[in-house]
Amino acid sequence: METPRNSLPLPMPIIEIIRRSEAAFASQWFNDLSPLLAKLLEWTLMFGIGYWGFGYGWILFFATVHFIKFRHAKEGLSDTICAKLSTLTSEKEVIGSSLEHFPSWVSFPDFDRVEWINDILAQLWKSIDGYATYFIVQYIEPEIRKILDSMALETVSGFKVQKIALGDVPARVGGIKVYNRNVTRDEIILDAEVIYNGDARVLFTLQGIKAEIRQINFRGTARITLKPIVNTFPFIGGFEIYFLNKPVLDYNLGGIGTFAEVPGANAIVKSVVEDQIRSRFVWPNRFRMFLPMDVITSRPNKSFLLSKPAGVLQVNLKEAKDLLKKDKGLTGSGLSDPYAVMSIGERKISFRNKYVPKTVNPEWNYIHEFIMEDSFGQKLMIDVFDFDNSTTDDFLGSIAIEIGNIVESQVYDEWMRLSQVKHGQLHLNAKWLKTEPITEDNANSFQSYVVSILIDSCKDLSKEGKNSLPSPRCKLTPSRGDPKMTQAKTKTKDPIFEESFLFFCHNASTDSILIKVVDSRGSDSLGQVRLPIDHLKNSPRGEYFDMNWDLDGGLNSSASIIISAKLFGVEVL
Ligand SMILES: *[C@@H]1O[C@H](CO)[C@@H](O)[C@H](O)[C@H]1NC(C)=O
Ligand SMILES: *[C@@H]1O[C@H](CO)[C@@H](O)[C@H](O)[C@H]1NC(C)=O
Ligand SMILES: *[C@@H]1O[C@H](CO)[C@@H](O)[C@H](O)[C@H]1NC(C)=O
Ligand SMILES: *[C@@H]1O[C@H](CO)[C@@H](O)[C@H](O)[C@H]1NC(C)=O
Ligand SMILES: *[C@@H]1O[C@H](CO)[C@@H](O)[C@H](O)[C@H]1NC(C)=O
Repeated sequence: METPRNSLPLPMPIIEIIRRSEAAFASQWFNDLSPLLAKLLEWTLMFGIGYWGFGYGWILFFATVHFIKFRHAKEGLSDTICAKLSTLTSEKEVIGSSLEHFPSWVSFPDFDRVEWINDILAQLWKSIDGYATYFIVQYIEPEIRKILDSMALETVSGFKVQKIALGDVPARVGGIKVYNRNVTRDEIILDAEVIYNGDARVLFTLQGIKAEIRQINFRGTARITLKPIVNTFPFIGGFEIYFLNKPVLDYNLGGIGTFAEVPGANAIVKSVVEDQIRSRFVWPNRFRMFLPMDVITSRPNKSFLLSKPAGVLQVNLKEAKDLLKKDKGLTGSGLSDPYAVMSIGERKISFRNKYVPKTVNPEWNYIHEFIMEDSFGQKLMIDVFDFDNSTTDDFLGSIAIEIGNIVESQVYDEWMRLSQVKHGQLHLNAKWLKTEPITEDNANSFQSYVVSILIDSCKDLSKEGKNSLPSPRCKLTPSRGDPKMTQAKTKTKDPIFEESFLFFCHNASTDSILIKVVDSRGSDSLGQVRLPIDHLKNSPRGEYFDMNWDLDGGLNSSASIIISAKLFGVEVL
């Protein structure tokens, strides 16, 4: 078969962290913290056992291990385990003695305050300090320098991080919510609110001038998906993490004397940091990591890497009335040229080029379909602006709706008052359409579909004799709708992407997705292939895994791409 891979590729920083944490295991602070870590591991185990519905025998086993290992660890009793066990008067005693240590979230409360995590963070904070500087200098600094280079700003160069001081105030987890209802059993979803408002400082030099970032203020809700769940230790094979909405990030840039005079320095640092966070961590962008373990790498297919849609949020922004009048004409009769921008997380749809001229009661009928992986926790935002040809557009108000509310009512049809302005109302019609995996029986009973595509890797993108390697990235263009891009991989002819995308498909018999591999550094086309949706629909269960497609029109005629895909039907109301 294709692509035997010993382990899934981990990002370099993670490998480095693993390598260095091995060293740390031998060091003093680990010894100090090991009871704490043992406890953490124990709780995780208990959580896993309960969740996975393991038999009572397992609980008994772990409880026994707990009793022996952690209760009497100091007595050094590996020889006397048997003796100890025989002195136990009943099984109940074993269980009882360990149950008193369980945190309350073992039983899935809705949102827990998790003070115990904060205690651990507080204790770890000092130890993390040393790693933070190392990590940033090693991995973030080159990234920022690369970006500065690519912006071709001759005036701003020589970015160098001197030191990171995490300070005395640790980050906090405001609360954790575990979703255990209506969630498929091969993943665990939890939301964690992360808050930081401490005295950390990042000291750096830019053009030889010393400066620092300080008074950092951060708040965001991260969704963490633990998957795939495997039935051997450690039960969880990896995770995905993203912020549901753009996190709040605020800081001050301080410098010695003249820093503020470096042209645009403040704005550049700010935009680089924000861009990095938005394009890497805000939904639908995400960070994912899987353990390089046999149970995961030896899985028959990559189905756990494919995004799974929960439903399609179909939004029709019908009209508005009584908006602010922003264009003051010569005659004094003010009107506006209103349009709207819809967004969920980092996915933004602007209808700027469809503004309605000279009215405060526009009829829009802006329609968009958002494909959602979960039906809960996220918000639909609508911002209204007044189109202005020359100057920046004026703000006419906004609304935010919990998607959960729309899901509950199925068809949501309301007039809503715009906030942050004196007056104005919006008429919104939204529907939640559930998606379902295709089976033999239902394949033809849908009108529209959602395609989930995993771009796994490419092979032989370069030709012999070419001295520089390409930096490939893939561009996916559906028959209708906006194209999407993978991240670019630097200097390789066999890139591994492992990125997953969702597309809406209106007509399965005619639609297709065009995949172009391009060199992000040069102008070379590295090949392309067109995937017909029809072919996917006619595959067994509407899916295929690790399928090899030839790429045409590239540098090397034997270039190929490996793709997994799965089709979901969209229910009609
Ligand atoms: C969620 O679970 C409830 C019952 O617990 C059920 O009535 C409802 O249909 C489920 N919703 C989805 C989207 O599966
Ligand atoms: C892919 O793997 C999953 C579990 O890992 C399994 O349920 C599914 O049937 C597999 N599909 C194919 C086509 O092998
Ligand atoms: C906006 O400006 C462009 C040229 O700058 C012009 O061609 C266009 O007609 C203007 N549109 C409106 C609505 O004023
Ligand atoms: C295509 O790539 C393969 C492997 O990298 C190489 O052996 C082959 O010579 C290349 N073909 C051409 C036409 O350069
Ligand atoms: C899809 O397109 C084909 C050809 O244009 C048409 O015959 C068919 O009715 C369409 N199907 C749907 C569901 O719109």
